[in-house]
Amino acid sequence: MPKVTFHYSGQIKTVEAAEGQTVLQIALDAGIPMEHACGGNGFCTTCMCHVKEGMANLSPRNDREENMGVTEDPDRLSCQSEVQGDVTVEVIEY
Ligand code: FES
Repeated sequence: MPKVTFHYSGQIKTVEAAEGQTVLQIALDAGIPMEHACGGNGFCTTCMCHVKEGMANLSPRNDREENMGVTEDPDRLSCQSEVQGDVTVEVIEY
């Protein structure tokens, strides 16, 4: 199973996740606070994270990310990024 490591609020937490889950789903299931104003539909950018390691282990950027201007590393929309292998992300806090 992929391991996803979150850096947030000065803490680091690693959890196992099923392949194909989004970074947002994984964070919320693990009790990690992550904003998601549009409900995970790719229309807000509040779930944006910085990928510290494992960008190649996420699904490719999709149209919603492109439409929201999330086009450059290390930025990804957590709700649109499906995990396919180990990843480390930094949660952006507002
Ligand atoms: S929750 Fe709105 S873009 Fe991800």
